[in-house]
Amino acid sequence: MFLSASAEGDTLLFFSPSQKISAKVICLKGTPSVQIEYADEVITTLSCGGLKIRGWPVAAGGSCGRTTRHSVSSLVKVPYGPAAFVQDAFNEVTIELIKEGFQDTAILKMRLYDAGFAFRYVYPGGDSGMLVDAEVNDFRFSDQDSCVWSWADYQTLEKTYYQTSIAKAEHVSLPFTVQKNSGIHVAVAEASVINYTTSTLRQDASVRGLFHWNLVPAADGSAVHVYDNTDSLKTPWRVLLVGKDAAELANNQLVWLLNDPPAVDQDWSWVHPINYCGIWWEMHLGLSGWQFDGGRHGATTVNAKKYIDFAAANGILGVLIEGWNTGWEKWGAKNAFDFITPYPDFDLAEVARYAHSKGVELIGHHETGGDWIHYEEMLDSAFALYASLGIHYVKTGYAGPMQPDGESHHGQMKVEHLQHIVETAAKYKIMIDAHEPVMPSGLSRTWPNLMTFEAVRGMEWNAWSEGNSPSHNCILPFTRALAGPMDYTPGILDVELNYRRSDRIRWNGLDKGESRIHTTVSHQLALPVVFYSPMQMMADLPENYSTHPYTPVLSRIPVSWDETRVLLAEIGEYIVVARRSGRIWYIAGITNEVSRTLKIQLPANVPFESLVLYHDAPESHFMKQPASFLIDSLSASQTDCSIELAPGGGFLLVAKAIP
Ligand code: NOJ
Ligand code: CA
Repeated sequence: MFLSASAEGDTLLFFSPSQKISAKVICLKGTPSVQIEYADEVITTLSCGGLKIRGWPVAAGGSCGRTTRHSVSSLVKVPYGPAAFVQDAFNEVTIELIKEGFQDTAILKMRLYDAGFAFRYVYPGGDSGMLVDAEVNDFRFSDQDSCVWSWADYQTLEKTYYQTSIAKAEHVSLPFTVQKNSGIHVAVAEASVINYTTSTLRQDASVRGLFHWNLVPAADGSAVHVYDNTDSLKTPWRVLLVGKDAAELANNQLVWLLNDPPAVDQDWSWVHPINYCGIWWEMHLGLSGWQFDGGRHGATTVNAKKYIDFAAANGILGVLIEGWNTGWEKWGAKNAFDFITPYPDFDLAEVARYAHSKGVELIGHHETGGDWIHYEEMLDSAFALYASLGIHYVKTGYAGPMQPDGESHHGQMKVEHLQHIVETAAKYKIMIDAHEPVMPSGLSRTWPNLMTFEAVRGMEWNAWSEGNSPSHNCILPFTRALAGPMDYTPGILDVELNYRRSDRIRWNGLDKGESRIHTTVSHQLALPVVFYSPMQMMADLPENYSTHPYTPVLSRIPVSWDETRVLLAEIGEYIVVARRSGRIWYIAGITNEVSRTLKIQLPANVPFESLVLYHDAPESHFMKQPASFLIDSLSASQTDCSIELAPGGGFLLVAKAIP
């Protein structure tokens, strides 16, 4: 199957289904290098040197054996997501990697989709376990490329991003996004991280543009423990997402697609995306507390009923309640939370009964403070309690150092913990929203009850730190969001945080007393459309929503879509996303600190039944006049429209097609 044998090694060429992307594979001494081209431009060259397994011969120095080819083309129905269907079409090549004098052969699998390239290794397992120390993959970009990145940090994914030349990106978290001078955009990501650790990329100290794959280590220094009696060791997919421009990159579904479909015999009909509000922002603002301290406790029966009434009156499907259970007063101590004992002023059964009587779903909360070991001990009783009360959603949290000491938040232990949580939750028909998680890698395809992840510097930072800039929001669709749904918890309408300002207590050391949201109110309205999450929060207080003209439209934004298009985009500058649910298009745009006029082409449904634009007013400005806004009905026969966005601004255009 290799096309030619030459001094540089055996060469093989294959293409994506529509031939947009090609991969030229050169196998030299058993180490394949792959040159990826898009529209005749080399976008990266990577080398696939295999795994360093302790006690095994080193990766390099062998030969490439048998190759096989395989193609797939099908349309996948999506249970919930940015689109109802995703095209699963790829050409796959597998190559045997043979080590001389060693009987076990590893396999390199490579796939080309029209949206990118992916590869993984498959090693034989065995009766006794193995330790993986490293994966010898390199990605080589041009030193002329620029990139968008955040520092790799084994403890948190809640970071800001930098847009720099490639040389400055020393050690980066995934997804890592690279912009070519030609306008082509690519991102390195990983998919299907199962019984493995997560990864980062480290730039070579002397060769600019050359990135070495790095596995996040466990406390003992090894990266991956492969258990006894494992049939085969499959690494996660290493993925290069490709778009002809920023807009195309932002609508990439490969990470999800590169996971297995759900088991055929399992019933997932109980899984439903949801929007929700909750007892949450008031604690972050310091208006109440998670902890029971007589007077300031947020999660009381009375307060919970207030939120349930608010949700029911506004068509919001769920209510999250944080701080309901004992343990917050012992934060950081071993076994602090038991996940089942409510504080004395919170009647869990009564709140659940009340929610059901109003047709509202409760979203339970399990904060672990990082003590995942105790959480696993308590897991069955914790889920059983919620299930017995008809509570089908649980938000988890790991705000604290991972235990035991020395373990990181992004190693194999945390990956396997997530798998355990999701599989156990499924037994109780519970859906999961994971905060402080590992980066999503598409597991929601296999376990649809794994709804959404935080893994982002989200809204909470605006309550108690210098906050997030408008450009941060304009970067996330091209970085973090490429990995999967994102529970950013958007939709704050009191952007200056004026409500009961003098009652707020500063509880976080990062809070310098100047916290606020750095966007206009219309930018906030756009976020639940721009940032996809099948559990989507309306994060503000009922008091701030109750009279605001944006509340009726905000509460009706769908949480699953039939179709998504990214109409306009420039990383860190602006993005306009059009999503359709049934016959209604929600077209939302946000900009960074710069005001701009964006001309958008409407989907071809003209004339519409109605076109309503929620947008910045002429005086709007994210720092000076963030609360100003306008609501206008547009002529239903127009085919395009020019929309002015204020600095830090945004808009939402709701276009209803004629039935
Ligand atoms: C951090 C989570 O991201 C946030 O949503 C939650 O309120 C706190 N931890 C407390 O659990
Ligand atoms: Ca968090």
